[in-house]
Amino acid sequence: MDRTVVLITGCSSGIGLHLAVRLASDPSRSFKVYATMRDLAAQGQLREAARSRGCPPDALETLQLDVRDANSVAAARARVSEGRVDVLVCNAGRGLLGPLEAQTASAVSAVLDVNVAGTLRVLRAFLPDMKRRRAGRIVVTGSMGGLMGMPFNAVYCASKFALEGLCESLAVLLLPFGIHVSLVECGPVRTAFQEKLEGGPGGALEHADAETRELFSRYLCHWEGVFREEAQDPEEVAELFLTALRAPRPALRYFSTERFLPLLRLRVDDPSGRAYVAAMHQAVFSHLPADHPDGAQGKAGAR
Ligand SMILES: NC(=O)c1ccc[n+]([C@@H]2O[C@H](COP(=O)([O-])OP(=O)(O)OC[C@H]3O[C@@H](n4cnc5c(N)ncnc54)[C@H](OP(=O)(O)O)[C@@H]3O)[C@@H](O)[C@H]2O)c1
Repeated sequence: MDRTVVLITGCSSGIGLHLAVRLASDPSRSFKVYATMRDLAAQGQLREAARSRGCPPDALETLQLDVRDANSVAAARARVSEGRVDVLVCNAGRGLLGPLEAQTASAVSAVLDVNVAGTLRVLRAFLPDMKRRRAGRIVVTGSMGGLMGMPFNAVYCASKFALEGLCESLAVLLLPFGIHVSLVECGPVRTAFQEKLEGGPGGALEHADAETRELFSRYLCHWEGVFREEAQDPEEVAELFLTALRAPRPALRYFSTERFLPLLRLRVDDPSGRAYVAAMHQAVFSHLPADHPDGAQGKAGAR
């Protein structure tokens, strides 16, 4: 029986790496995985994980694929020896954290290019063949940051919101082609993501005013707490990708955690956005001192 051919972007670390190894070592032996990465010199961790999970050598192949380079995407596609990809996982992504004014224009462009234009480059390369074959699955690594705005993540959220529009639009169109599009909406996951933030943690903070810097340090405290308490392991998230790609009729969205759904519901229940903005502000900055303009008094005013 033909194996399911899966191509995954961004497999040098994190979710992509764990998903590639999980599928390639699946006891069913029913997957052939092309684990792609920007720089093949970074495949050591993937190889080590594959070895320790006992992946059969013919189940996992690495390919160079930089989502910022259309030629590299085309070259990777040409090296898929089966001549088809049954499941395309658009996972490569970059974070950007900090005040807008602390980010360089090149860091902003890089994140938008990887997360949005990069995903588009990959989709445009593989979609025509899926349409011709009238079969295929596309799974995109989404984020709760693509469904709700978060302070100091404006550019990252903008990029992940863009993926929501892209995937939802394609899902509607592709139904008659038998192609399913799913987003795996991740909450915090323990990966190298924070270490690989474009421009480092926060960017050039000296370009931000003192009050914004103070809010940013409070945001970091909040975020570290959320991460400590809520972060999932990439192995756990990888299982959700399996659920999506094995479902007879996959959903558009799969959520790695239910922790943030109440906030998400506020966005739907109050389309004006007032309730969400107030609740998110409170969730992140509620430990502000009472004499701070956005502290307890400010919040009481908002209510
Ligand atoms: N970790 C979280 O808390 C979290 C939460 C929600 C969503 N996500 C999403 O999950 C996805 C995977 O991230 P992760 O958490 O696993 O972090 P990660 O370990 O940093 O993985 C990101 C992967 O994307 C790759 N990448 C970056 N630029 C690329 C490019 N131009 N071409 C090809 N690959 C590129 C990275 O490769 P290099 O090392 O070569 O740069 C790396 O392999 C991302 O889309 C991210 O937005 C993560």
